Formats: sequence, C-alpha cells, structure tokens
Amino acid sequence: MKSIRTKTTLSYAVLAILLVAGISVLSTLKIESYFKDRLVDDLSHQADLIFLFLSSDSSLSFQEINDRVKAVSGIEKLRITLIDADGKVIADSDVPVDRLSSVENHLHRPEVQQALTQPIGVDTRHSVTVGRDFLYVAKAVISNPKNGFSRAARFIRLSVPLEDVQSRTSEIRFTILTVGVIAFILITIVSVFISRHVTRSMVQIARSVERIRTGNLDEHIPITSDDEVGQVARAVNELVDKLKSDIVQLKRLERVRSEFLGNVSHELRTPIFALQGFLETLLNGAVNDPTVNRSFLEKAQVNATRLNALLTDLINISQIESGEMLMSFRFFRINDFLRAIEQDFVQAAKQKQVTLVFDAQCGESTEVYGDRERLRQVMDNLIDNAIKYNTPEGEVLVTSVEKNGTVEIGVKDTGVGIAPEHMSRIFERFYRVDKDRSREVGGTGLGLAIVKHIVEAHESSVDAQSSPGKGSIFRFTLRKG
Ligand SMILES: Nc1ncnc2c1ncn2[C@@H]1O[C@H](COP(=O)(O)OP(=O)(O)O)[C@@H](O)[C@H]1O
Ligand SMILES: [Mg+2]
Repeated sequence: MKSIRTKTTLSYAVLAILLVAGISVLSTLKIESYFKDRLVDDLSHQADLIFLFLSSDSSLSFQEINDRVKAVSGIEKLRITLIDADGKVIADSDVPVDRLSSVENHLHRPEVQQALTQPIGVDTRHSVTVGRDFLYVAKAVISNPKNGFSRAARFIRLSVPLEDVQSRTSEIRFTILTVGVIAFILITIVSVFISRHVTRSMVQIARSVERIRTGNLDEHIPITSDDEVGQVARAVNELVDKLKSDIVQLKRLERVRSEFLGNVSHELRTPIFALQGFLETLLNGAVNDPTVNRSFLEKAQVNATRLNALLTDLINISQIESGEMLMSFRFFRINDFLRAIEQDFVQAAKQKQVTLVFDAQCGESTEVYGDRERLRQVMDNLIDNAIKYNTPEGEVLVTSVEKNGTVEIGVKDTGVGIAPEHMSRIFERFYRVDKDRSREVGGTGLGLAIVKHIVEAHESSVDAQSSPGKGSIFRFTLRKG
C-alpha cells in the first residue's frame, strides 16, 4: 500500500516535472523566435541602408558597386547579394565580378519569391557548400532610373549564418534547464515537507485506529484542528465512546440475563424440592398414616399448582420480553369487561374476607381500545395482589372513570401497603417486598412485571401509590373509543 504521504509527494513531483518541462520548452521556443525576429528586423533595416548607400552615387561602375558590396559585407559580417528582375545575380560579396555570370539564377529562391509579393522575404536553409545554416532576408527595392546599377537591381538579399542565434538560444536553453532542474529539486523537497505536514494528523489517526482495531478502546485521538481531519478524529472518538458504552450495556444485559436465569432455576427448584419431599415422605410410609397423609397430599398439590403458575408466568414474561407476544387491539365495552372480572373474583374475596367493590362510572356503551385478553391478565394480577396483600375485613375497590378521551382504571386496597424504598422495584421480575408472604399466598414475583409490559404495550403506564399499613392504589389509562 502506498501511503498518502508518498502519493502526495509523487503527485507534486510529477506536477513539478510537467511544469518545468512545459515552461522550458515554451520559453525556449519563444526566445528562439524572438531572436530570429529581431535578426530579421535588423537585416531588413540594414538592407534598406545598404541599398541607399549603394545607390547614392549614380556614377558607380559594376566593379565599383561590387567592391563596395564587399567592403560593407566585411564591416557588417554578412553576405550581400544584388539580384535583377530576372533573378540574375549582379553583385555578391562572396563572388568576384568575373565569376558572377556563372552564379545560378536566384529568382526561385524562397526568400526572393516571397519578396515579390510581400515587403520582406525570409528563409533559413542549410548551405551544403559551407555546411552551415543560414538566414536569408530579401527585399524588393525601388530602382532609380538615373542610376545604371540601381536600374538593374530589383532585390537586395542579406544572409548571415544562424550559428550565432543558435548558440545563444542553446545557452539560454541550458540556463533554463539548469534553473528547471533546481526548481524541480526544490519543489520536490518542499512537497515532501508539505505532505508530511498535511498528512501528519492523518497518519496519527491511522495509527490510533489500528490500535483501536486491535482492542485498545482507551485510545483517544487528539483533535489538533477544526478541519475535515479534525472531524474524522472527533467522529472516531465518538464512535469508540459509543462502542464502549454499548459494551458496558451488553455486559449489563448479560449480567441481568444470568441473574434472571439464576432466579428462575431457584424459583423452580423450591416447589419441585417441596413436592419431592412430600412424595418421598408419603412413599416412605406416611401414606398409611391417616393423620398426615391427606395434608401431605394437599401440600404436594399446592406446590404443583405453584409450579404451574410459575411456568405460566415465565412463559408470559419471556414471550413479552422477546417481542413474541402478539397483541390484538380492538374496541370493547369497559363495563362488560369489568363485570366479567367481578364475577370471577367474588369467591376469592370472600375466602380472604375482603370486600370487593366495583364502581363503574363509565357509560354503558363506553368502549376502550386494547387487547382484551392481555388487559384481563393485568386486572387479574392487580386484583389478585389487592386481595392477597390485604388485611381481613379489608376492602378492594375497582374503579373506572372517563377522563379527557381516556378511561382510567384503578385498583385500590386497604392492605399492608408498600414502603417507599420498595416502590421503585416492585415492577422488577421476581422482586417481592416480603418473600415469605408472597410465597405463602402463591405469588410468583412476576405479576407486576407482566402488568407493566402489557400496559406499556398500550402506550400507557402504571401509576402506583401506597402508604404502609393503609393500602395501595394502582392506576392506568386506556384510550377511549
Ligand atoms: N396491592 C399490594 N399491596 C401491597 N404489596 C403489594 C401489592 N401488590 C404488589 N405488592 C408487592 O409487590 C411485590 C410484587 O408483586 P407481584 O409482581 O405481583 O409478585 P407476587 O407474585 O409476589 O404477587 C409483591 O411481592 C408485594 O410485595
Ligand atoms: Mg402478584
């Protein structure tokens, strides 16, 4: 894997190469053409001046013109050629007069052809005879009819070897290249530092994340900036914090689960052991003892009933808590519902010498919205508790009142009550204020936990109030139809 640092440095380096190369090539080309343009300009001027000089004296012979051409060429270090309208060379600084007639016709030289139609004709050529590159500049001249020579001349052409320009541009090219290489090296060094600086916090985050990955959840990335890198650092820190709290929660849930399992096995074991004990005693001979056999059998039965109640509640609570409990909500008449419950509790209340009063203040046709079966379980548990934890001659009052769009149902008793320190815990699974009493009256410790879950599934909550020795009241509301 290439690190961000390497990638950044490489990109900078590539960019520097492209930039330096581009600038070098462009500037060299530009400088070359600038020099050439200037040279052409100079030559053009010189051509004008030289022609003026040559044609100033109308009495000059061809020989004298040629001598002058040679002299000027010697001073100016350039070759001068005079050409007539037919392309014939009539004077040339490099050719003696007597050999002029053998010089090739110049009419079709590119610079001469150009000079026919344009103010100036330019060409660069490699001269095979001299073995060098030459720049040729030709100009058409206005002939002077009074002057024999000038009448004949139609073009003046100057040429210089290009070496000078070429050597100067190659010098400049070399300088540019040297500067370019130095710039490239500098840019690369600077980019190493810049990318190191820019990626430092990223590298730090990467290292921290690696440590977190290998299990060190106490790793905390220092936030050094407010930019995107800082945001990443902050996000990772938050993620780790969340992970830590999730783990804490998971551990807590795991502890609650194993506690519950411990409670369950303990709760189940108690009636099973009792049952085993009574049956064993009976088998060991007590069955034939008419004074105890019946009571032992009855006690065995009580424990079997308890076991059954416990299993029923356990199944209920596990269904509720795992979300498997399917609720079926519909509207039903609250008065019918309560009357049916009253019927079923008359006997139990009588047995406990508790007066059971139902005070339904709702209209006969008032309907509530909920799961009738599950609400029946709620009422059973609440009334069962109100009777069980009551005192002889006590009273249980079940009320139903309409209250702004809801029906409030209350179960009030005049029983033993619950001390404030227990109030917050009575809805926990297996929590009992008085273990012995609960067991004695056949409680499982799961009733109020089931009540709480069911009422909450109706988007409501149970309100419990109690004063020890006086009694308690449990209330919840249902949506009115
Ligand atoms: N009406 C009440 N009066 C006094 N104590 C109550 C009442 N209802 C519940 N409790 C207390 O709350 C505990 C939990 O109730 P519950 O979950 O129904 O379990 P249990 O099976 O013991 O009745 C009971 O053991 C009891 O101590
Ligand atoms: Mg109960």
